[in-house]
Amino acid sequence: MLYRQVLRPLLFKFGGADPEDAHERTMWALSRLANRPRLREALVGFNARACPTEVFGLKFPNPVGLAAGMDKDGRALHAWPSLGFGFIEVGTVTWRPQPGNPRPRLYRLPASEALINRMGFNNRGAISLAARLADLEPLPVPLGISLGKSKVTPLEDAVGDYLASLRVLHEFGDYFAVNVSSPNTPGLRGLQDAGQLRTLLTALREEGGRLASTSPGAPAKVKPLLVKIAPDLTEHAIAEVLEVCGEVGVDGLIATNTTLSRDGLAETDRPRGVEPGGLSGRPLGARARAVVAFAHRETGGKLPIIGVGGIDTPDAAARMFDAGASLVQLYTGFIYHGPSLPRRIALDARDRS
Ligand SMILES: Cc1cc2nc3c(=O)[nH]c(=O)nc-3n(C[C@H](O)[C@H](O)[C@H](O)COP(=O)(O)O)c2cc1C
Repeated sequence: MLYRQVLRPLLFKFGGADPEDAHERTMWALSRLANRPRLREALVGFNARACPTEVFGLKFPNPVGLAAGMDKDGRALHAWPSLGFGFIEVGTVTWRPQPGNPRPRLYRLPASEALINRMGFNNRGAISLAARLADLEPLPVPLGISLGKSKVTPLEDAVGDYLASLRVLHEFGDYFAVNVSSPNTPGLRGLQDAGQLRTLLTALREEGGRLASTSPGAPAKVKPLLVKIAPDLTEHAIAEVLEVCGEVGVDGLIATNTTLSRDGLAETDRPRGVEPGGLSGRPLGARARAVVAFAHRETGGKLPIIGVGGIDTPDAAARMFDAGASLVQLYTGFIYHGPSLPRRIALDARDRS
């Protein structure tokens, strides 16, 4: 209430002309909070252990995660569990540091409670993230690391690019998400095609196995590998992705990334809808849920799914769990509904279980 009626209007209005300014201010504040454990406890101290759950061999204090893209460089990692998140996905990180697309590249569509972004994987690169994670106090929740392809790397060299990131980050992640579904890196989504996906995932799986067996304290468990897919794939294409996941022994699916569709936008947001990029938030919810339900059915519930897209209330999260998700993630709902959302969803999930 306080957030939607007071803080959000202030942040949207005075956060800067470019919505990315508001994002940067928020990240700055959260990174301060992340570095001050006592302040964190006093302000937002929340016991994230509301609804413990175990998925792909990892223990989660609750099933509500921060989606990739919010904290790409891991600047505020200790702040997120205090807000109630039961896991964090950092990144998407690429092997090469890169600035992303020119600004403006993030747009609000407030009547639809949606965003359009064409950030283009702006991040400081895998080596910089590894250095930051090496200095980090242990987190109280699992950390996923989302891997993407550097823009300068040609598609035919994509495998080597992902592998290089995996090698430097392997010891720091609890799971790895292979992002082949961002609409903002030219050609990236082609990596969802069965042949290319098989080659990429097989290489990452083998390297993950090798890294686990040579890590200090081995034999260690092989770290879970997940694939994040686009909501714009046909059922046939999703079925192919799932077949490859089965063949390669992928541990889970993240569904979905942002969409190229502009369905479901409020009338007043239609002019903004022409901006190129991926749409997230409320208009994506039904499609993301349908993809989760299809994947759940198709795999007989055997492949764990992280449901993401348009989750903005505990009810919307409950519908995603009902569709077959084992865990959920939030991005746009968090922007529109504020820092109490993960906690509210976690408590609701506990009450329903
Ligand atoms: C500004 C912005 C940046 C994003 N960056 C990434 C990213 O780097 N990697 C990724 O896998 N997904 C990224 N996403 C997609 C989200 O993780 C999520 O899949 C999508 O927004 C749908 O969830 P939502 O409706 O709750 O926002 C981004 C989304 C937004 C809005």
